[in-house]
Amino acid sequence: MSRTRTAILAALALVAGATGTAAAVVPGDAGITAVPCTVDYKVQNQWDSGFTASVTITNNSAAKTSWSASWAYAGNQKVTSFWSSRITQSGTAVTAANESYNGALATGGSVSFGFNASYSGTNATPTTFKLDGVTCNVDGGGSGPTDPTDPTDPGTPSAKVDNPYAGAKVYVNPEWSAKAAAEPGGTRVSSQPTGVWLDRIAAINGVNGGMSLRQHLDAALAQKGTGQEVVQLVVYDLPGRDCAALASNGELGPTEIDKYKTQFIDPIAAILSDSKYSALRIVTTIEIDSLPNLVTNTGSRATATPACDTMLANGNYVKGVGYALNKLGAIPNVYNYIDAGHHGWLGWDDNFAPSATLFKQAATAEGATVDDVAGFITNTANYSALKENNFTINDSVNGTSVRQSKWVDWNRYVDEQSYAQAFRNQLVSVGFRSDIGMLIDTSRNGWGGSARPAGPGASTSVDTYVDGGRYDRRIHIGNWCNQSGAGLGERPKASPATGIDAYVWMKPPGESDGSSSAISNDEGKGFDRMCDPTYTGNARNGNSLSGALPNAPLSGHWFSAQFQQLMANAYPAL
Ligand code: GLC
Repeated sequence: MSRTRTAILAALALVAGATGTAAAVVPGDAGITAVPCTVDYKVQNQWDSGFTASVTITNNSAAKTSWSASWAYAGNQKVTSFWSSRITQSGTAVTAANESYNGALATGGSVSFGFNASYSGTNATPTTFKLDGVTCNVDGGGSGPTDPTDPTDPGTPSAKVDNPYAGAKVYVNPEWSAKAAAEPGGTRVSSQPTGVWLDRIAAINGVNGGMSLRQHLDAALAQKGTGQEVVQLVVYDLPGRDCAALASNGELGPTEIDKYKTQFIDPIAAILSDSKYSALRIVTTIEIDSLPNLVTNTGSRATATPACDTMLANGNYVKGVGYALNKLGAIPNVYNYIDAGHHGWLGWDDNFAPSATLFKQAATAEGATVDDVAGFITNTANYSALKENNFTINDSVNGTSVRQSKWVDWNRYVDEQSYAQAFRNQLVSVGFRSDIGMLIDTSRNGWGGSARPAGPGASTSVDTYVDGGRYDRRIHIGNWCNQSGAGLGERPKASPATGIDAYVWMKPPGESDGSSSAISNDEGKGFDRMCDPTYTGNARNGNSLSGALPNAPLSGHWFSAQFQQLMANAYPAL
C-alpha cells in the first residue's frame, strides 16, 4: 500500500550531527603519540543519581604486564560496581587495577573497563588521569586533547557525554524570553529554553542589531554558573532551502553550496571552536526539513516539487548537511542532531527506511562520519502529538484496523514518541551509533484546552473512534502552518523516555510558520498558501483546508495571537 503521500513539510528543522560520545582515542594519532598514555573517559549513560562510564587507556610507553590507572573526582561520585578492572576508591581518589586476564598492555595497546557510580549535583569529568603514576593526556570523549603537544594538558572541561541534556540547564534566549514576557500571561513560560535559529548568514553577527552568535554564547556562559549548560542552535540556511514549501525559502539559491560552506558553516564552526566556549554543551540541530524532503517530495511521487527534484539531483542538501556535520562534529563540545521529520511525514513504510538510508548517506558525505552524529530531532516546528492515549496503532473497530482510518491512513505510528523510538532503532540498524539519542520538539504539540478529548471516540466506525479520541485536532496531519487549536506541549525536559535525550522547544513558540498572505521581504521568504486559512490544499495535505490561523506575519516573526492561543491550549496546562 503505498502511501506515497506524505509529505508534510513542516517548518522543521533538521540538524546535522555532532558527535555523540566521543570518538575513541586513536593510537598514533598525530600529536598524541608523544604522550606516555592517553585516556578516553566516557559517561555512557546518566540519570539523576547515577551514571555508567567506560574508560579506555592507551599505553604509549614500554610494554606492561600489569597496570593501574587513577583519577580524582571533583564531586561526590562513588563507584558502586565495575567490570574488566578492579576499582577501589578512597574519598575522591579512584584506582583501577588490571584483572588477572588483562594485565598485558603492549606499547600502543589499549585496554577498556567500565563501572557504575552514584553522584548528586554535577557529574564533572575528572581532569587528570595517571597510568602507573605517570600523567596521561585526557581525551574526555572529545576528538582530542586541547593541546596535543602538551602531555599535561587537562583536556576540554566539557567532555562529550552520551546525553548532553542530562544534568544540565538549557540556555534561555533573552530575545525570545523578552517577547514572551511582554505578552499578557507570558511570564508563565518566558524562562523556558528555546532554540536559537541561525537562519541566514547575517544571523551570525546579529540581524538588525539583534544578538550575535557570540553574544548568545557569552550569555549562555553567564547563565551557566558552575553547572553544565546546553545551548541549542538551529543551523538553517541550506542552498535552495525549504524545497517543498515557500514560507521558509532562504537566501541561498540551489547552487550556492560554496557560499553555504565558506560564509555560513565555516564562520559558525570558527566561533563554536573558540576555547572560551569549550565548557558549554552546544547542541546543533541541522537543516530542518531538508533531507526528508528529498525522500518524500521527489521523483514520481504525487507530492514531488521541481525544487526538491533539483536539490536531489544537484546533491547540495546532502553535501551541505555532510559538510556541517563534519565541521561542527569536529568540535569537542558540539553535539549534532539531524532532523528526522515527524511521524506524520516519515512514519509510512515508503518513507521510513529510505529516510534512514539517506540520513546515513548525508552523515558520511563531505568527510562526515556517524561519529559526528549525537542523535536526531523529530517534530521540529511541527504539531504532532507526543502520545495519543485514546487509541493505538494495534486497535481495530469492527475488524477494521486503526491504520485504515482516514486520519492514520496506513501510517505505522499514531504519535511522535513511538515514532522517535522506532526510528532510532532503524537508524542504528543502518549504521548509526547505538548510543544516539532522540530529541522531540514539544513546543507546540500540546493540544490541550476544552477541545481535548477525555477518552476514546465512539466505536461506530474506525473513523469515529480515531477522530473522537485523538488529541491532535488538525484537519489533516499534513497541515503545518500556524495551526488553529494547538497548544504548548511538554516543557523541556532531559531523559524523559527510553532513547529520548530530551523534550525541547526548538521552535520558539510565538514565532510564525509563515504569512497568511503575501508580504514582500528581504529574507527570501515566499508566500505559501498552506498558511492561508482559505486555502483548500494540495496532495501533501490530502487537499484539505490548511487549518492556519489568519493574519499571520512572515515566518520567524512574532505572532502574538498564536502565542496567546498556544498558552491557552497548553497541555500540560500552565
Ligand atoms: C522559520 C523561519 C525562520 C525562523 C524559524 C524559527 O523556519 O523561516 O526564519 O528563524 O522559523 O521561528
